[in-house]
Amino acid sequence: MDPIRNPFSPGAGSPPPELVGREAVLEQVRILLARVKQGKSEKSLLLTGLRGVGKTVLLTKMCDQAEAVGYHTILIEAHEDKSLPVLLAPQLRNLLYKLDRMEGAKQQIRRGLAVLKSFISSVKVTFDDMPLGLDIDPEQGTADTGDLELDLPDLLAVVAQAAAERGTAVALLIDELQYFSEKELSALIMAMHRMQQRQLPLVLIGAGLPILPRLAGDSKSYAERLFSFPQIGALEPADAARAIVGPVETEGAAIEPAAVDAIVAMAQGYPYFIQEWGYQAWNGAESSLPNLSRLNRLLE
Ligand SMILES: Nc1ncnc2c1ncn2[C@@H]1O[C@H](COP(=O)(O)OP(=O)(O)O)[C@@H](O)[C@H]1O
Ligand SMILES: [Mg+2]
Repeated sequence: MDPIRNPFSPGAGSPPPELVGREAVLEQVRILLARVKQGKSEKSLLLTGLRGVGKTVLLTKMCDQAEAVGYHTILIEAHEDKSLPVLLAPQLRNLLYKLDRMEGAKQQIRRGLAVLKSFISSVKVTFDDMPLGLDIDPEQGTADTGDLELDLPDLLAVVAQAAAERGTAVALLIDELQYFSEKELSALIMAMHRMQQRQLPLVLIGAGLPILPRLAGDSKSYAERLFSFPQIGALEPADAARAIVGPVETEGAAIEPAAVDAIVAMAQGYPYFIQEWGYQAWNGAESSLPNLSRLNRLLE
């Protein structure tokens, strides 16, 4: 089989040729996005699951979903050695500039930039490789206490108001949330609490390891009422089979049902293994019809 045409994509965050078995959570996001855009409140989403189940892939898909319904999006990945302000501030600046280029009143957007400027100086963030260059006076007294739990809610509220001024909404998508410090996670939860209280058009869609609900709950007991924690896990056997057969057939090839069953049994619904087995089976196959004996040879 031609390895260049191999449709499978084992990897980290690499979109699968066919994203199967995640209809329910994608529908939940569709409803969340539509409700928040209409000024209704809805729980934000924190996806949880082990490594390799497809959280990053889902987050990227949800980012596209948000943009398709008119959201402005910010997609970041939490990091052990980068703080939340360092990750977020440049993205917020870009977002405000984008809003600034749109037609209409500028008041809230100007204010957003001024508050962002005070935030940056108060949390003492330095951006070595990216001068923020905000050519505006900071707004004194908003988001400038230096305490992230107080400042982040202020800052995100002003950004959400700026988006509202443009008739749009903001989706903040954050991967690997478990890497944030307790203080950062708490600040983020408090910011989302503010969004709900004021019904501001900003949603958070996060992803993290299964420890995340506990981290969030320990940080703020009301977290369980603010967020929904969909568990992303193994795929049903029928979905797993679809994830193998669909891409093969799309490439105009075929795979024996017994080989599909063997892959489904070995992968146990685990998305990364499905891609890896699909990939190896394709490359190991001599003709367009990989059969069980060849797969068994591969297994040895
Ligand atoms: N719903 C799915 N169907 C088929 N393959 C998937 C699905 N979700 C993810 N994958 C595959 O699983 C692997 C791991 O996905 P990733 O999003 O990196 O997982 P996580 O972020 O949970 O560690 C990737 O190779 C991806 O293509
Ligand atoms: Mg991931």
